[in-house]
Amino acid sequence: MGKVTVIGSINMDLVVSTTHMPGQGETVLGKEFITYPGGKGANQAVAAARTGAEVTMIGAVGRDAFGEKMMENLHKEGIDTKHVALVPEQSTGTATIILSDGDNRIIVAPGANHELSKEMVAQKKEEIETSDVVLMQLEIPIEVVEEVTVIAAEAGVPVILNPAPYRNLSENIRNRVSVLTPNESEYNQMHSSLTGEEEIVITRGEEGVEHKGEMIGGYSVDVVDTTGAGDTFNGVLAARIAEGEKVKEAIVVANAASALSVTMKGAQSGMPFREEVEAFLEDNKDPGS
Ligand code: RIB
Ligand code: NA
Repeated sequence: MGKVTVIGSINMDLVVSTTHMPGQGETVLGKEFITYPGGKGANQAVAAARTGAEVTMIGAVGRDAFGEKMMENLHKEGIDTKHVALVPEQSTGTATIILSDGDNRIIVAPGANHELSKEMVAQKKEEIETSDVVLMQLEIPIEVVEEVTVIAAEAGVPVILNPAPYRNLSENIRNRVSVLTPNESEYNQMHSSLTGEEEIVITRGEEGVEHKGEMIGGYSVDVVDTTGAGDTFNGVLAARIAEGEKVKEAIVVANAASALSVTMKGAQSGMPFREEVEAFLEDNKDPGS
């Protein structure tokens, strides 16, 4: 079992389904409205925990009902939350998600997630230094991401950075990250700033995952909700690398886990446990078919 520390966002997902995405100025009658625990950071933490990693979450929620629910949810998943700050003056982050035909559109209101500061993470130095892998995304302030890469690099702890939602990354950050995991569109945006030295894992949806010029095929499953598919991939990847697995082997498992995750609604609901992924891999030895 490896130790994964996730530094990232915690959101309440406010999800409404509709048969038709509203256009500009249009109002449509939707179907049901459901709230789900989300946030790229929390989602990735849950995926890693379900894979069997010992997971610590560093993040922030507001002192409100959503914040309480999010903390409860992380606890239930066996994640260490003592480093999640409660910020009184901000509301817990939310993501308003419109789902239509398996497609989604998301607006994130960061709230408390943006209160996470360099000083706060500097206080968690020991937690970062004693990790096998550090996992981050870009829903928290960029200076926090940078500070964590400094602490981790000094301690020789590998950092996996999922550059989502996309923002320009300074050379300082890029040089200190061990593995970058953009999706297709993030990769296209960052591509011109890359030096060729970086280890990049590109998630290409159903097509699969690209790593060092090689495609690791995807699986065709019944897609219900793709929200959190990338998070499942990243959390599982981090958990398996933290156990000492090679990047390529970890990708195979993470790829299968993310395929399973899209068969259920909600970012975290479909995230499989370790045994389910292993059983799926056993039954689907020939990906891409
Ligand atoms: O990656 C999916 C996540 O992005 C959602 O859970 C939502 O909270 C947004 O942060
Ligand atoms: Na899902």
